[in-house]
Amino acid sequence: MNVLHLDSSPLGGASVTREVTAALAAAYRAAGATVVYRDLAAQPVAHLGGELLQALRPAPGAAKPEGEAVARELALTETLLAEFLAADVVVVGAPMYNFSVPTQLKAWIDRIAQAGRTFRYTPEGPQGLAGGRKVVIVSSRGGRYAGTAFEQAMDHQEAYLRAVFGFLGITDVDVVRTEGVAMGAEARAAALAQAQREIETLTAGEEAAV
Ligand SMILES: Cc1cc2nc3c(=O)[nH]c(=O)nc-3n(C[C@H](O)[C@H](O)[C@H](O)COP(=O)(O)O)c2cc1C
Repeated sequence: MNVLHLDSSPLGGASVTREVTAALAAAYRAAGATVVYRDLAAQPVAHLGGELLQALRPAPGAAKPEGEAVARELALTETLLAEFLAADVVVVGAPMYNFSVPTQLKAWIDRIAQAGRTFRYTPEGPQGLAGGRKVVIVSSRGGRYAGTAFEQAMDHQEAYLRAVFGFLGITDVDVVRTEGVAMGAEARAAALAQAQREIETLTAGEEAAV
């Protein structure tokens, strides 16, 4: 089993999602999986600029941009797509930032959501091409949203990630959530302990699957 482990929090050792993704990746490794790691904060993926977009999706009749910089970005896009498509399980470290995901994670999504590679449009509508793998969203939030009145109005993080991966054809999505981590040391410790229990449940029986 191949696992792609992504971190996107820029907070290093102080990051909750990094602590949880590391524990989850370790559990998969212990079950015999091969884990590929990508740190989207330490090695940030550049945002989609006009030149790269033109190279990725050339407008009819327009010249395709050339040069070293665009070639490097195209090669990185291919590497990111290959890592994603080689994974049976994608572990996504996803802090909630201003009700959505950090820009570091969004920049990765903008590279792997590629027409003709991970989705396509058909006469019947969009079709995901990246199904058959599992995504585990490792979510962390300062406040509490799940099951509250705020969830529908303000969660553009987990809901967004589910929508994106669903659009790419991935229906097997789990969430390991730490909520209320800004609501005191006790709340933070309880959330981390709960996440650890969820990791154990999630990875129980994986040994048989690898
Ligand atoms: C820039 C920034 C924006 C944040 N926005 C929110 C938010 O909208 N809602 C929330 O509940 N927590 C918010 N938080 C708190 C984080 O979601 C929380 O600290 C989480 O643990 C971050 O993940 P990390 O520790 O892996 O970096 C924000 C934190 C930062 C630094």
